[in-house]
Amino acid sequence: MRSISGGGKQVFTHKNPKLKPYTVSIDDYDLIILGGPVWAGSPAPALQSFLGETKIRGKKLGLFVCHGGGKGKALDTLKALLPGNTIAGETDFVNPAKQDRGTVAKQVGEWVGTL
Ligand SMILES: Cc1cc2nc3c(=O)[nH]c(=O)nc-3n(C[C@H](O)[C@H](O)[C@H](O)COP(=O)(O)O)c2cc1C
Repeated sequence: MRSISGGGKQVFTHKNPKLKPYTVSIDDYDLIILGGPVWAGSPAPALQSFLGETKIRGKKLGLFVCHGGGKGKALDTLKALLPGNTIAGETDFVNPAKQDRGTVAKQVGEWVGTL
C-alpha cells in the first residue's frame, strides 16, 4: 500500500507548512511577480503559508501558477489571498520544467513585458 507524505499530505490535511526563516522587504518593490505550483486545484500549501505571514498590500501584482493541465481555481484563490492590490496580469504555465527552456523563457518574457 502506498501513502502520501510530506508536501502532498498537506493538501489533504489543509495544514500549511511552517516555512524556513527568510527575509523579504516587500516595501522595496512596486511590482511583485508571484506564483507557484497548483496542488489539488489550489496554490501549493507553502505559497499559502507565505501569503499568510507576509503582508502584501497596495502593490501591482503579476500572478502565475504552474500546473499539469488542471489549474482549477488556483488563480482566483491566489487573488483572494491578496486583497488590496492591483492585479496587473495573470497567467499559467503547463509543466514548465518539462517544456523547452527557450520556449518557456520567451513565454515568460512576453508576459512580464505586459505588466
Ligand atoms: C501534491 C501535488 C498536487 C498536484 N495537484 C495538481 C492539480 O490539482 N492540477 C494540476 O494540474 N497539477 C497538479 N500537480 C502538478 C503540479 O502543479 C505541477 O507538477 C507543477 O506545477 C509543475 O511545476 P514543475 O515543473 O516545477 O514541477 C500537483 C502536484 C503535486 C505534487
